[in-house]
Amino acid sequence: MQIIEVKDYEEMSLKAAQYILNKVKNKNKMVLGLATGSTPQGLYSHLAWDHQKNNTSYTNVTSFNLDEYIGIPPSDPTSYFYYMYERFFSHIDRVNENAHIPNGLASDLDEECKRYEHLIQVAGGIDLQVLGIGRNGHIGFNEPGTSFESPTHVVELTNSTRQANARYFDTIEKVPTHAITMGIKTILKSREILLLASGESKQNALVHLITGEITEQFPASALKHHSNTTVIADEVALHGVKQLHPR
Ligand code: PGA
Repeated sequence: MQIIEVKDYEEMSLKAAQYILNKVKNKNKMVLGLATGSTPQGLYSHLAWDHQKNNTSYTNVTSFNLDEYIGIPPSDPTSYFYYMYERFFSHIDRVNENAHIPNGLASDLDEECKRYEHLIQVAGGIDLQVLGIGRNGHIGFNEPGTSFESPTHVVELTNSTRQANARYFDTIEKVPTHAITMGIKTILKSREILLLASGESKQNALVHLITGEITEQFPASALKHHSNTTVIADEVALHGVKQLHPR
């Protein structure tokens, strides 16, 4: 696992954007795995700005988002569908059919999970998957205890995740209890992984990710089984790791 330390959130976002742009510009065809949450917002702003300035084209890019809430319509500002269109997709020249997000309104959710997994396979697998990390080590919505062998599946969100995401909703009761997420196995099949982390709230998660054991109780530790993972994290997020391993 390669660790790139940056000064702050802004530098993390810029570095991540450069990393992705380098691939988007140099590949004829690219499959990108995308994340939501507060961490990648700056990344999407940079990519949107770059498109406006340099006209970088995304018509060669197929994307798959990690997850979506169950029961929230795409038109609802708290849906991940809305987030992606608002922050990124509406600012670039993507091809509509090439931008995939799990359908949290599907009448048969298990069938939707299979369909999503199949779509990723048909696209040739994910070239580069962007990830954030939850305070409890979740990646996507794979909560502690999720099997490392899990494909795309329906999850029940933990209280800590619902509380962390309550800031986007009027009340905690409105935070969905379930979501569809790519599984850990799906994520690990990506040819390359880019995990972003910023700020104090991620310190403990990075200590576990970088120095801790591999365990299903800490989903992100599965990334240690992956041979091409890069972490871009800022100084504050890496503070705990550096105290354990001062240079
Ligand atoms: P955040 O969420 O980017 O909003 O901190 C990360 C995550 O929960 O995966």
